[in-house]
Amino acid sequence: MRFPSVETESASGRWLKNDKNAYHCPTKRTKMSTPVCRGGKVPSSVLGPRNQKEDRRRMHLAKFPSSGRMIRTATLNHRNGDCTMGNTGSNRGFASDNYAGVHPEILKAMAMANTGHAKAYGDDPFTLQAEAAFNAHFGPDIQVYFVFLGTAANVLALAAAARPFEAVICADTAHIHVDECGAPERFTGCKLLTVPGVDGKISVPEIQRHLHAVGFEHHVQPRVVSITQATELGTVYTPREIRDIADFAHEKGLTVHMDGARLANAAARLNCELRELTTDAGVDILSFGGTKNGMMYGEALVFFNTDLAEDFQYVRKQGMQLASKMRFISAQFKALLEGGLWRRNAAHANAMAAMLARLASEIPGVNITRPVEANAVFAVLPPKAIPLLQSEFSFYVWNEEAHEVRWMTAFDTSPEDVKNFVEKIRLMF
Ligand SMILES: Cc1ncc(COP(=O)(O)O)c(C=O)c1O
Repeated sequence: MRFPSVETESASGRWLKNDKNAYHCPTKRTKMSTPVCRGGKVPSSVLGPRNQKEDRRRMHLAKFPSSGRMIRTATLNHRNGDCTMGNTGSNRGFASDNYAGVHPEILKAMAMANTGHAKAYGDDPFTLQAEAAFNAHFGPDIQVYFVFLGTAANVLALAAAARPFEAVICADTAHIHVDECGAPERFTGCKLLTVPGVDGKISVPEIQRHLHAVGFEHHVQPRVVSITQATELGTVYTPREIRDIADFAHEKGLTVHMDGARLANAAARLNCELRELTTDAGVDILSFGGTKNGMMYGEALVFFNTDLAEDFQYVRKQGMQLASKMRFISAQFKALLEGGLWRRNAAHANAMAAMLARLASEIPGVNITRPVEANAVFAVLPPKAIPLLQSEFSFYVWNEEAHEVRWMTAFDTSPEDVKNFVEKIRLMF
C-alpha cells in the first residue's frame, strides 16, 4: 500500500507524519519515530492489522455491495466544550441509524464523566443518576441493568425469562431471529418459534397457534413472546396492540419481552411517553436502545416484572456485559433521558424518513412498500437502479427477489441529505 502523504490511520489510531518522516498520534500525545520504509510503504508496525482488515472489507464489499459502509467522524472541540459533526466527504447514506456518529450532547456528557476516578462496575454517581432517569420515565418499580449491545440486551433478557427447553415466540422478521447470528439460541438454549406477522407486527391469533402443545413433553414449551418496537419493518405497535398481546400472554403464563432498540422512535411517532408503551402496556422485560438514538454505545435492560431480575446480576456478568467503567454508559443514558434528547433525536429521524418517503414516492418507478411510521423507509426500485444508487449512497437491499430496499434515517440526517438523495434517484430514472 502506498503511504498517503500526510496522515494515515491504523488500528491503533490516526497517525501523522512529520517532516522527519516520523509518525506521531495526535490523539495519544505520543510519538512514534518509525521511519517510512523505502518505496513509500507504510511500516507494518504502524499500520498493524488494519490493512488486512481493509482488504477483507473490500473483498466483502465486492461480493455484497449492499452492505457498503461509509465512515463518518464526530469531533469534540474541547476548548469550548462544544461539539461539531464532521464528515469524511462521502455522501451521507441511508443504510442504518448505526452509521450515524454520536450526538454532541452525549459526547459532552461522556467528557464530563471523564474526570477523576469513580467506583467501577456501576457503583458510581453517574449510574445512580441514570437509574433515577429510568425511574422518572418507567416508574419506581423497575430494575435497570446497563449492557453494551442490543444483541446482548435481547439475549440476556431471554436468558432471564426462559429455560433451555422453553421457547420464544416472535415475528419471522425479528432481529433476534434474523440478525443475531443465532446468539439467542446459543446462549439461552431456547428455540425461536416464528410467526409471519404483518409489516413486522405480530398478533394474538398467530401467537395462539404455537400454544397447542403446552404440557406435551416432546415439544418445546412456549415461555416468552418477543415483540419489536419500532419493528424491523419501520412500523409501530400502538399501546392497545401491546396491551392485547400482553394480556393474552399473561393469561397463558407467558412473559412479554420487547426489543426496544427503537422504542424512542415509536414513542416519538405516537407522541406518547415511554411508559405508555411498556410499563402501562404490560411489558415484562424491555431491551431499551441507546446506540441508535445518538449514543456511542450502551443499551439497558429494564425489568418491569422484577421477579425475573432475581439473579440477573450473575446472568449479566456471565454474559460478559458488566461494564467495569460503567459510568460512561450511565452518563450517556442520563444525557439522553433527562432533558428529552431521546425524543428530539427520534422525532427528527422519523421526520426525515417521512420526508424521504413523501419525496421518493413522487418519482415514477419508486414504490413505498411499508407504512412509514418510524425512521425506516422500504421501497421497491427498478433492479438496475439499485447498484447505481448504491455506488453513491449506502443502503441495504432488504429483499433481493422483490428488489425491495431499506432506507434508514438517523438523528443527524438533514433535509439536504434527503433532498440530495431523492434528486439522485430522480436523475437515475
Ligand atoms: C431491532 C433491533 N434490535 C436489536 C439490535 C441489536 O443491536 P446491536 O447491533 O447493538 O447488537 C438491532 C441492531 O440493528 C436492531 O435493529
